[in-house]
Amino acid sequence: MRSTGARALQGVVGVSGDKSISHRAVLLAALSREPSKIRGLATARDCRASLRAAERLGAVVLQRDGELQIRGAPELPGGELSVDCGRSGTTMRLLAGILAARKGDSVLLGDPQLLARPMERVALPLREMGAVVGTAPGGRAPLRIRGGRLAGVRYRLPVASAQVKSAVLLAGLWAEGRTVVEEPVPTRDHTERLLAAMGASIEERWEEGVRSIGIGPAQLQGLELEVPGDASSAAVLAAAAALIPGSWVTVRSVSINPTRTAFLRVLAEMGAAVEVGDSAGGAEAAADVTVRHRPLRAVEVGADRVPLLVDELPLLALLATQAEGTTVVRGAGELRFKEVDRISGLVEGLRRLGALVEESPDGFAVSGPVRLRGGAVDSMGDHRLAMVFSLAGLLAEGDVRVAGTEFIGDSFPEFSSVMRSLR
Ligand code: S3P
Repeated sequence: MRSTGARALQGVVGVSGDKSISHRAVLLAALSREPSKIRGLATARDCRASLRAAERLGAVVLQRDGELQIRGAPELPGGELSVDCGRSGTTMRLLAGILAARKGDSVLLGDPQLLARPMERVALPLREMGAVVGTAPGGRAPLRIRGGRLAGVRYRLPVASAQVKSAVLLAGLWAEGRTVVEEPVPTRDHTERLLAAMGASIEERWEEGVRSIGIGPAQLQGLELEVPGDASSAAVLAAAAALIPGSWVTVRSVSINPTRTAFLRVLAEMGAAVEVGDSAGGAEAAADVTVRHRPLRAVEVGADRVPLLVDELPLLALLATQAEGTTVVRGAGELRFKEVDRISGLVEGLRRLGALVEESPDGFAVSGPVRLRGGAVDSMGDHRLAMVFSLAGLLAEGDVRVAGTEFIGDSFPEFSSVMRSLR
């Protein structure tokens, strides 16, 4: 992809359904004997892995008039099962929680990029609950799971991870007694919301600043859900509007789940004008979000804010190149364990384009404003870096050539067409 020139972006656009919510809706619907109806499922390539997994779990999946109808099997199937999770970490980790409760042997496989990501974090609590979980050397996938009788545990997350939290809560649906997950720093809460909407006995408590979520065994009811627009795809468009003078963008019907709107709060803190419209509420609320360009100033983000902002931090780095002062992000070491090491990929790419950026073990510092220049950059196969570098191309003085834009489809297949519609 080649992108040049800086022209104001203006328009009202929509984005496809939220990826995180879609993964969960599909996997949870596969666990209910009652029919579920899901509208507006994500087009993100990653979500196909969860649909495949739902079918491997015995669910019947039908697409009808833009609606997905899913009916789960009466029981988790027995015997040997192998599931290819593609490039989707969410599919692999959530599925591990479900398969921990299944009598039989399962193998979770994936693309080489997924096989390089840490899986011990999910294996550990599932072993505590009674499953036998094997990882490859270095605690990586493939995951080999021999599931069966589980016992409820109280588990404090050592790393703030919604995926690990979700795996433990899902295993808790079959465990004897209650399962409690403590999260010292809040992470996205879609699993809890959808489980509650499906009738699970789930409760939230706050003790000395620590959020704990308890769950007991349950038969899930069917789910009826309109998936809100993807908050992280909307963040890309919001960042584009905030970066380019004269721009404004409205994204229709996007997720305003409070665990997904931290980026909008940071944008406002940096000086952009952010407006959130009215919402009809529901388990997963949606509203129109409008962002307008204003002169930007630097911000500081520490570990307490990172988990609710983690997928948007590469966008923040790009915003920081156009903001007055030095933006510092700390406590974001988790970025090194995403699809690729997003800290080094980001620093390398932005530097090539003339940004003033310093790398630290758990974050980065970016000074601005600077005029970016053209150059060749590599997303290293990461969809979020590919989008950040493509946006950089809108600001740079010369041509920016981004290698690996085909990976954008992992989360936001409509990125190019939506961007074109804004010009
Ligand atoms: C996700 C949680 C986050 C996020 C990922 C999606 C989810 O990962 O980075 O893109 O849907 O639960 P972690 O839970 O590993 O932090």
